[in-house]
Amino acid sequence: MKDLTEDQIERAAKLKGMGTSRKRVEDVRFTQGKGNYVDDIKLDGMLFGDFVRSPYAHARVKSINIEEAMKVPGVVAVLTAKDLEPLSLHWMPTLAGDKQMVLADGKVLFQGQEVAFVVASDRYAAADAVELVEVDYEELPVIVNPFEALKSDVVLREDIKDETSGAHGPRNHHNHIFTWTEGNEAATEQAIDSAEVVAEEMVYYHRTHPCPLETCGTVASMDKVTGKLTVWGTFQAPHVVRTVASLLSGIEEHNIRVISPDIGGGFGNKVGVYPGYICAIVASIVTGKPVKWIEDRMDNLMATAFARDYWMKGRISATKDGKITGLHCHVTADHGAFDACADPTKFPAGFFHICTGSYDIPAAFVKVDGVYTNKAPGGVAYRCSFRVTEAAYFIERMIEVLAIELNMDAAELRRINFIRADQFPYQSALGWEYDSGDYHTAWDKALKAVDYEGLRKEQAQRIEDFKAGKTRKLLGIGLTHFTEIVGAGPVKNCDILGMGMFDSCEIRIHPTGSAIARLGTISQGQAHATTFAQILATETGIPADSITIEEGDTDTAPYGLGTYGSRSTPVAGAATALAGRKIRAKAQMIAAYLLEVHDDDVEWDVDRFSVKGAPERFKTMKEIAYAAYNQAIPGLEPGLEAVSYYDPPNMTYPFGAYICVMEVDVDTGQWDIRQFYALDDCGTRINPMVIDGQVHGGVTEALAIAMGQEIAYDDMGNVKTGTLMDFFLPTAWEVPNYTTDHTVTPSPHHPIGAKGVGESPNVGGVPAFSNAVHDAFRAFGLRQSHMPHDHWRIWKIASDLGLHA
Ligand code: CDP
Repeated sequence: MKDLTEDQIERAAKLKGMGTSRKRVEDVRFTQGKGNYVDDIKLDGMLFGDFVRSPYAHARVKSINIEEAMKVPGVVAVLTAKDLEPLSLHWMPTLAGDKQMVLADGKVLFQGQEVAFVVASDRYAAADAVELVEVDYEELPVIVNPFEALKSDVVLREDIKDETSGAHGPRNHHNHIFTWTEGNEAATEQAIDSAEVVAEEMVYYHRTHPCPLETCGTVASMDKVTGKLTVWGTFQAPHVVRTVASLLSGIEEHNIRVISPDIGGGFGNKVGVYPGYICAIVASIVTGKPVKWIEDRMDNLMATAFARDYWMKGRISATKDGKITGLHCHVTADHGAFDACADPTKFPAGFFHICTGSYDIPAAFVKVDGVYTNKAPGGVAYRCSFRVTEAAYFIERMIEVLAIELNMDAAELRRINFIRADQFPYQSALGWEYDSGDYHTAWDKALKAVDYEGLRKEQAQRIEDFKAGKTRKLLGIGLTHFTEIVGAGPVKNCDILGMGMFDSCEIRIHPTGSAIARLGTISQGQAHATTFAQILATETGIPADSITIEEGDTDTAPYGLGTYGSRSTPVAGAATALAGRKIRAKAQMIAAYLLEVHDDDVEWDVDRFSVKGAPERFKTMKEIAYAAYNQAIPGLEPGLEAVSYYDPPNMTYPFGAYICVMEVDVDTGQWDIRQFYALDDCGTRINPMVIDGQVHGGVTEALAIAMGQEIAYDDMGNVKTGTLMDFFLPTAWEVPNYTTDHTVTPSPHHPIGAKGVGESPNVGGVPAFSNAVHDAFRAFGLRQSHMPHDHWRIWKIASDLGLHA
């Protein structure tokens, strides 16, 4: 701000524009019980739906008897696949080009699968009737391991058993979904074969679940008089839901209104289309009454989109002095019973091929095999869609393993392999063009902030003390430098069910100088109403407090692809800035007219246009807005509105340096996080306080995943962690204090230089925690152990290393 005058600084501060830690405007409602979530919606005559779910992971459904259930007072209907079949709705397409049963059609393929849908006058009657639906199952052999699935004679997907190719090319086994490759295999093999040092490891990123505080749900209301279907729901992409609902039902799109009200956390869990949505819509059409369906916690954990479940076999090669020469990765990806990953169409493994990370690796190759098992479908959710989290975990573990192989400090190994600032835009061996970055600066700042050298000395002393019997606690220093890729589009590369991944913003400036802006995205807690108003405040000179941001109603918001994968800022944020600039362009003409000078003789000045060289002659945006509605201006339409649809030219590549310092008790396996330092570079920062909040939340979710959270199955396919008694959800008790920090490397192609940030802390946090555990035991010979690092598993590491003797 050094070029601004004091008056300009004062006026800019009043706008609360970009760079201001503006308080979240949403929180007034949320903290006073005025949130409006889907379960808050109550309509006259509303019915309630509930599912009969399969207790078995693999079974033939021989018969379903609904007679007793129908006798429960208040029960209106019990839908089965037979009822949906005439409408061709007993199966539905998935976002990954597969199809999925809406209700069990002849067999079930995972525990918790939807078998029948009971509709009743209240949710208690529906729950009672669920108990009385008699389903005759014949158990079938269960496969929960993807490696076994590829060898087994048991056919899981009988509906496609004879199909030798799927949406993503050839299938080589009846339980195989696709093989997808990227990179130069021959060059990579050659680099690894001829290398001085090679490290090889299987890195498993376990199955987990985002577990948003609000579960998934919907209210469908078919108005038979107007022919209009209104659907409220926990949808992260309401417009896509409208289009899909129209295509599936045949109802014209203008007769469908989809509304996402407040959403209590999404994290990717609310991107997919679930059977509950279809059943509620059908039930409303059939009964002519509104129908509500809300999951309970067990339903949510057992049956909705999981995350990860990636077995990543890696080989990494280097010279003796640590320059990486090649990276090879073969992933066996457990997709569960149906391929329902929410990736852009052309990317069956999402953006996993960002797995060369922050490093300049000349040769790389990735191969991903998707596999069916008897587990719930889904596959990309959890604060990082598109498999970037798996990729970051993979490369950050491989770096650590290579450091062991080279007997080298892992911080130094990273430093000598980072892509240099002068190499951007950087073309990766796996096909991405990284837009900008300055990894060395961020890394040096991070190491200095935690006194890395001092920590290593302390660790060495701790090891001595441990060996001398003076302590039973080891010290782990978990390092991570991650590179993210967020902001899908561009349209030419990225679509969902054929809809190109652009996004949008429409602004209306009112005559008195306040405004409403509507976007194609939808906040699930990320504070869009706060931060998008800040972008507009800076771009239009209207105070953020005078701008209402609205999202989530397809009848009013411009078409957009929704919010997931940190795409809101890179895509809709850009649309917002550009729509703001359109407003400003028209405002300039109005100002020039009012000031009786040529358009080129006025200049933008924070919240006004003033005459060049005569700043005392000006028109504020408030005056300009009024004139737009009140004066006939030659050659200009009345009004002050703009809309922008933004197709990003590239994705944005945020990055970060995270360091976790952890004490580990060898005898109990308990861990204590002494320090967690998170440096994020998300380009231009719109709201530093909101960014901090995103980082705190994301690192906490990373802590959960790395240190305890898991969707675990037994051999019969029973979900062992289907309640919050078993599924680790961190509370204030476990969560450490975080130190946040930043550097700013703007995105060169984004109108305001901003990159996304929401995903980053999860992407960087998980390897930081996991590497800390591994690092604590490195001196005693640990190379690799699987997450989650709960107390028992840490105790077992110590035991296996002979540290309890
Ligand atoms: O798509 P999603 O909203 O989940 O993620 P995001 O685009 O990373 O934005 C999350 C929140 O952080 C939004 O409120 C953004 O406006 C804010 N943010 C920011 O203040 N500055 C940035 N450079 C990036 C995001």
